[in-house]
Amino acid sequence: MSNIGSYDNRLHDFSWKIAEQELGYRPGDTINIGWYCSDRICQLGKADKIALIWEGHDENSTRTYSFNDIRILSNTIGAFLRNLGIHDGDRVCLFMDKIPELYIGLLGILKIGAVVQPLFSAFGDESLFIRLENAGTKAILTTRQHAPKIQKILATLPDLQYIILVDDDGTKALKAKEIAFSLDRALPVEHLDVFPTKAESPSLLHYTSGTTGQPKGVKHVHYSLISQYLTAKWALDLQEDDLYWCTADPGWVTGTSYGIIGPWSLGITQCVKDSGFSAETWYRFIEKHKISMWYSAPTAIRSLMKAGDNLVKRFDLSSLRHLASVGEPLNAEAVVWSEKVIGKPFHDTYWQTETGSIMISNFPGMKIKPGSMGKVFPGLTAALLDPDTFEIITEVNKPGLIAFQFDWPARLRTYWKNEETFQKKFRNGWYLTGDRSTIDQDGYFWFIGRDDDVINTVGHLVSPFEVESALLEHKAVAESAVVAKPDEVNMEVVKAFITLKPGFVASDELELEIMNFIRKKLSPLAMPQEIEYVDTLPKTRSGKIMRRLLHAKEWGEDTGDLSTLEND
Ligand code: WT7
Repeated sequence: MSNIGSYDNRLHDFSWKIAEQELGYRPGDTINIGWYCSDRICQLGKADKIALIWEGHDENSTRTYSFNDIRILSNTIGAFLRNLGIHDGDRVCLFMDKIPELYIGLLGILKIGAVVQPLFSAFGDESLFIRLENAGTKAILTTRQHAPKIQKILATLPDLQYIILVDDDGTKALKAKEIAFSLDRALPVEHLDVFPTKAESPSLLHYTSGTTGQPKGVKHVHYSLISQYLTAKWALDLQEDDLYWCTADPGWVTGTSYGIIGPWSLGITQCVKDSGFSAETWYRFIEKHKISMWYSAPTAIRSLMKAGDNLVKRFDLSSLRHLASVGEPLNAEAVVWSEKVIGKPFHDTYWQTETGSIMISNFPGMKIKPGSMGKVFPGLTAALLDPDTFEIITEVNKPGLIAFQFDWPARLRTYWKNEETFQKKFRNGWYLTGDRSTIDQDGYFWFIGRDDDVINTVGHLVSPFEVESALLEHKAVAESAVVAKPDEVNMEVVKAFITLKPGFVASDELELEIMNFIRKKLSPLAMPQEIEYVDTLPKTRSGKIMRRLLHAKEWGEDTGDLSTLEND
């Protein structure tokens, strides 16, 4: 029996009070996600239950942590930070691979009322700088491997006071602002005064990319727990005896909302594998730990499909009970494939960094329509709006902009230091997701595409603006335009069109050099997979580069009426 039971029944009399009551929260109370995910679970009698089974590259590196371990170790990190003078409201960045300190550190930071800023460990110094500077980050928890990227930009970050190395053995020389810290050697803190955060106290700052301007810091609050708890329970169907694997990195919102907060607030055991993708490694991980609930992403699923059906047969995947996916369109074939080959279909879920929790989903027990994102979570009011008038579309199967009434607990509260852009997300009282879809006669949403130029590669958003700006910093590049290029597995990849400065000659070596330049500066995700040298870029009369035209060509689409583009 699924947690949600009957979806239709849940629609009646829905109230977020269901989650509030289950969590023992009353309006006005203090609410601290760090406490809810560890102390409370211990108080419920689950102190000895395994919270985390962690495995590194090496299969024999497995470590397990009980909820009591997580409680004490997050206290320990919290107390350490507090002793440094970090207090409520300060921004503390987590910049490391998927090691236990990342998961435990997140709770520790929240426990002292500070704001967590998780950043993907593959970010280069430019990506890092933009985000640390915008957040005015005071401390950063990282590892020896990643610290040099911070050292490189340290002089330009006046607010950054501490670089805390969580894997330091205390024997090596420390550089400017570096402090060594080790969870293994620190004195365990049995009791910590958890900061009395309230519903609207800031909790997390996740950065996301838009079409124009710098990445935006999505501000979340502790009350988001209400949504994350209930969606993890009803949409992901997490159950008491589950062994849950969320493949997302906590540098991105899936890895925090459903890779830490949702499951641990429910007292669920989760497994983490800190290694890159390999079909074999993944299947072996499921088999070894008897994973029962698996939350992953379409690019990974397509890669598994590519690895072939025979490989699947070599493993015992019978422990799997429920599968879900997020981040990009999940093609119908992937759903049909997983049902046939793995024996269970992937349930698509749709949401965003901004929404903080699942908004649309193929719920357990509900008929899955392969290729559809499913239906809205109970309690949400969704509509499709006409792109020109922003009026509600009532016609079935007519494309429109996905919009929501802005009233669910995990909604973003603003973009950090960018209220103006936040306000632009609203029309006629609706929150606009920036995505287009249709709704069929049964209320299922069918994704069409984004309403902007942002590139969704491997389920991660890359801003063409950011890549173009970085390209211009390369000595050979005069002008650039960056668009999405279709890709069989990654759905989209980054493609750059560039014109060269006088004195530079197009060559394969230069292409490689520019690619690496972006990979190091921004990230492997933002690195163009292809660079096309052109003599000129198409421009409007006012001199704006016509990305849309280049995009349409890449996708073999009609380039439309060029005269209107020229007048943009
Ligand atoms: C964008 C949000 C929060 C999940 C991780 C990504 C696209 C997300 C789906 C889906 C088609 C999807 C949308 C959305 N997206 N889920 N099931 N089907 N597209 O969070 O980086 O903020 O990206 O990802 O375009 O707006 P994000």
